[in-house]
Amino acid sequence: MHQDVKKVLVSPEAIEQRCRELGKQISDDYRRDGEIPVLVALLKGSVPFLAKLITYIDIDIEFDFMDVKSYEGTESIGDVRILKDLDRSIKGASILLVEDIVDTGRTLHEVSKLLLNKGAGRVKIVSLLDKPSRRVIPIEADYTGFVIPNEFVIGFGLDFNEKYRNLPYVGVLKDECYL
Ligand code: IMP
Repeated sequence: MHQDVKKVLVSPEAIEQRCRELGKQISDDYRRDGEIPVLVALLKGSVPFLAKLITYIDIDIEFDFMDVKSYEGTESIGDVRILKDLDRSIKGASILLVEDIVDTGRTLHEVSKLLLNKGAGRVKIVSLLDKPSRRVIPIEADYTGFVIPNEFVIGFGLDFNEKYRNLPYVGVLKDECYL
């Protein structure tokens, strides 16, 4: 375990198993609906999750990336600024937004709105983690990996000051590392 990690919340084995289950569920749902989803991964935190999840999806998919930043100091609903936009038109597309964690819900709320404004036919959400106790905007992912308590987590894509994204598990950062 990394020396800055207080405890492991989600092990690599649990992540693997849950991605397998989510991949099957997503495949079954989109197969039933006869849709080819465009997975839109929000940079950078969702990259490891996207990479693992898609290996367990056995229908045709496409994927693309977006990078957004919440406006500084926006404590209310606020807007997001697009740092990297999608490469193609999503008019009529069935979007599956891929996120690392739903915290206050602001990011997903704003990005979903934005994608619908760009003409997406439907927007669903898959998130590796969910911290429901922190929610400000009432938004839920359609597919959730793990519900976690209100602790700041790192690893498997999640960072603190851009560090720890490469850890193969999700863990809680030691308090002294915030200093
Ligand atoms: P929201 O808009 O408040 O839901 O925030 C979502 C974003 O905040 C995520 O995509 C993460 O980048 C970041 N975030 C929220 N909680 C954590 C955490 O515990 N560790 C690392 N990043 C987090």
